[in-house]
Amino acid sequence: MIPRDFIDTLLVRVDIVDVIDRRVPLKKAGQNYQACCPFHSEKTPSFTVSPTKQFYHCFGCGAHGTALGFLMEYEHMSFPDAVAALAQDVGLAVPESAQEPGRPKPPPALWDALEQAAQFYKKQLKASPRAIDYLKRRGLTGAIAARYGIGYAPDGSPLKQVFKDYQGDALVACGLVVENEGRRYDRFRDRIMFPIRNVKGQIIGFGGRVLDKGEPKYLNSPETPLFHKGSEIYGLFEARAAIKDAGRAIVVEGYMDVVALAQHGVEFAVATLGTATTPIHARTLLRHTDRLVYAFDGDNAGRKAAWRALENSLEALQDGKEVSFLFLPEGEDPDSYIRTHGRDAFLRLLDAEALPLSAFLVRELARDRKLDTQEGQAGLIKEAKPLLDRIAAPLLARLIQRQIAELAHLQPDELGRMGVRPAPARPVAARPQRRPAPSRLRGLARTLLMNPERVSEIDACWIDARDPLGGRLGELMSWLANLGPRTLPALAEAARGSSLEALVDELMTDLLDKDESWDWNAEFDGAVRQLRDDWRRRRQQELAARPLGSLSPGERQELTELARS
Ligand code: UTP
Ligand code: MN
Repeated sequence: MIPRDFIDTLLVRVDIVDVIDRRVPLKKAGQNYQACCPFHSEKTPSFTVSPTKQFYHCFGCGAHGTALGFLMEYEHMSFPDAVAALAQDVGLAVPESAQEPGRPKPPPALWDALEQAAQFYKKQLKASPRAIDYLKRRGLTGAIAARYGIGYAPDGSPLKQVFKDYQGDALVACGLVVENEGRRYDRFRDRIMFPIRNVKGQIIGFGGRVLDKGEPKYLNSPETPLFHKGSEIYGLFEARAAIKDAGRAIVVEGYMDVVALAQHGVEFAVATLGTATTPIHARTLLRHTDRLVYAFDGDNAGRKAAWRALENSLEALQDGKEVSFLFLPEGEDPDSYIRTHGRDAFLRLLDAEALPLSAFLVRELARDRKLDTQEGQAGLIKEAKPLLDRIAAPLLARLIQRQIAELAHLQPDELGRMGVRPAPARPVAARPQRRPAPSRLRGLARTLLMNPERVSEIDACWIDARDPLGGRLGELMSWLANLGPRTLPALAEAARGSSLEALVDELMTDLLDKDESWDWNAEFDGAVRQLRDDWRRRRQQELAARPLGSLSPGERQELTELARS
């Protein structure tokens, strides 16, 4: 866990305007800053950043948060990564104990070893005419090789000269060295080396290709504390900006495909690492883009791989996102296609031939079935049902369901009655538009955020339980009392993940349009007074409604006092 104090200090040091402006240029608008929202498409700016509240909010899509939240959303970072990035910006060291819970941090030696090895392999490439010649024959220039950090691992065990500590644990742990019956040697020998980077650009592993014939054609780093094939995506770091510009990403099967596409100016391609596309891959990619195209070979194996990718994407789908499948002509892969036909032809193919997920799904389900027989129709429904249930995009699910129903000669609702859920109940990641019920307590709650210490001036019994905010205000008060004094963004971060997160975010958003001249202390005083007066009135009515004889002496005195004031 990252200590709360550290996050508070960090948020005091960073300026959200600066953090956002470096990524999304902001314009001053009154006391706040504005831009077109980076999280949804719009023509007029509704994305607002407050320098005084250190908070952003989009009045169009509801996105909001602190500088940390922004980095997590915009850079797709985890919380600890966002903390580390901001800390680095302002020159603070994240305390040692700050580790992701459950996942011990790999020792720095592993990162260093991979980085050093990559540098070495790059140098060796320059010194090897044979390796250079191989890459040239495959149509790659030095610039693209440099962009992807491509290198060459010579034969023998050259890392022995690079690392003084060849016998240490790090080299084996990061997969560069293999240990066999007490002997150690380099894993990668006489291979073209493709460094695999994580989204932050750190090297986590390698893929190595033989230059001539040989088995295996590609050798990959094993699973290590840094490298997890099922979740890493080759080329994502390099492609990030291009994916954003193009508004789409292509997923191909091989390292060479990614690099060759980039060589020809198609820079938004990435690859899975010789494994099937996993749900983690799909989710990560759909966080980076709304349009995803899987490009596979046109043969049987390609179709099978595409089907796996489809199955593993269903749960990552959202309405408004498009996943499609491009099948290349028999015998071609993206590398060979773009080299023969060029960039324009490849992009045309992509636009004209990519099959929407829905169409691919229905086509494959209907394949080789006798849909004019009831047996064929039943088979279709049986196979379709579990797949439809997994689609996390309710509208799309319903449309596909309708199409399947037609193929099975059923009414859509009949398909529903056969046990296919009409739309999956899985929550969609869409941001809820917050339109809170009006509450008299809201003004009080938001001024309370400005100075949590004043919580002691409110008596919990004054709160009207019937107010829509009532229960949550009590919770907010005890939370604030426990936290002690905090800055606004520190409060927002402290609420992250708690049951109060939504309320605190709402109140922060309320505060955005308050400027420096806003006298929140006066507003707080007024709100407290009103709260107390309301309570007195209620209490007086309550006591007065009871027969005098049933009141205790204390209650009688209370009634007299209430009537007097
Ligand atoms: P392919 O066999 O389709 O090769 O493997 P390719 O990408 O066309 O490569 P070139 O053009 O011959 O150089 C696709 C991907 O499958 C994984 C690699 O990630 C490769 O990029 N693979 C393939 C392996 O991991 N090991 C292998 O032996 C072969
Ligand atoms: Mn190939």
